Amino acid sequence: MGDFVRIVEVGPRDGLQNESQMIAIATKIALIERLGRCGFREIEAGAFVSPKWVPQMAGSAEVLHGIKKKPGIAYPVLVPNEKGYVAAREAGATRIAVFGAASESFSRKNINASIEESLARFRPVVAQAKSDGISVRGYVSCVLGCPYEGDIEIAAVVQVSQALFEMGCDEVSLGDTIGVGTPDRARTMLKAVAGSIPMKNLACHFHDTYGQALANLYACLEEGVRVIDSSVAGLGGCPYAKGASGNVASEDVVYMLNGLGFETGIDLDALIETAWWICDALGRTPGSKLAHALK
Ligand code: HMG
Ligand code: MG
Repeated sequence: MGDFVRIVEVGPRDGLQNESQMIAIATKIALIERLGRCGFREIEAGAFVSPKWVPQMAGSAEVLHGIKKKPGIAYPVLVPNEKGYVAAREAGATRIAVFGAASESFSRKNINASIEESLARFRPVVAQAKSDGISVRGYVSCVLGCPYEGDIEIAAVVQVSQALFEMGCDEVSLGDTIGVGTPDRARTMLKAVAGSIPMKNLACHFHDTYGQALANLYACLEEGVRVIDSSVAGLGGCPYAKGASGNVASEDVVYMLNGLGFETGIDLDALIETAWWICDALGRTPGSKLAHALK
């Protein structure tokens, strides 16, 4: 299939947000800096959300301040509302992500707002960010299923994605939050969204709960997507999606992309070392096959 795939490394945010043990700010900073040395050009560094909702992300301002930033690397952070936006901007964020859902129930559980309310909340945030020179990604959760509602209509995914794109998000990341998708469904969903948003502005964000993420990504690569979200060592889950396991592991994704002849700019050996390093710090072993095979 050839060409370049941009991998958005979400481990320091999506990977760590669900950890029950509090992780030191210094460990988060070291992880982000290591990932930068692996070659990632976009590393999600934290979330400016309510510390009552997600305690693990409470130190995101210190993390953002503490990173030795490298030119050419973006360190996006999640922002749910105006309060989060102001805090992120003060902490020096240059890229943010708003996050909505294609499922009404998930939206309420995750951000305490209906889909419509959430979009109304995001609009002024996106407008302000753009006028401040801060770029914005938009997430859509539950694109292939919801922990509360089960199947989700593709039309709902298309509608929310379109709304985020039209309000000014330069990229829409399609989240299989609970990893229930299979390749044909992933492909059909992506094709439907790509009917109204250019493929170059779409990303796939697949969790691997049912072991389908790589297969789903392969189907979406065939369809033309060239931005993939993944998490070092397959860390993660969502605190408001019970049973959701980590994102697809970055090292498994890089290995597959290498085999398919894509460029990623990622040093696989350094990535595997980083996967073991963070897992040692967390007291576990990596969730990827590759980190074990190539230890
Ligand atoms: P709420 O309780 O409705 O907020 O929560 P509120 O506006 O009523 O305010 C209540 C309190 O929260 C107030 O404080 C506010 O100041 C404070 P109090 O007066 O009680 O002391 N507050 C904030 N504090 C810090 N930062 C803020 C903020 N906003 C209000 N930004 C809210 C609404 C959106 C804040 C809450 O629901 C929330 O923080 N949710 C975040 C949930 C989250 O982070 N989920 C995980 C990320 S999403 C995900 O993982 C999916 C993804 O990976 C894609 C995929 O896999 O599908 C992206
Ligand atoms: Mg996620």
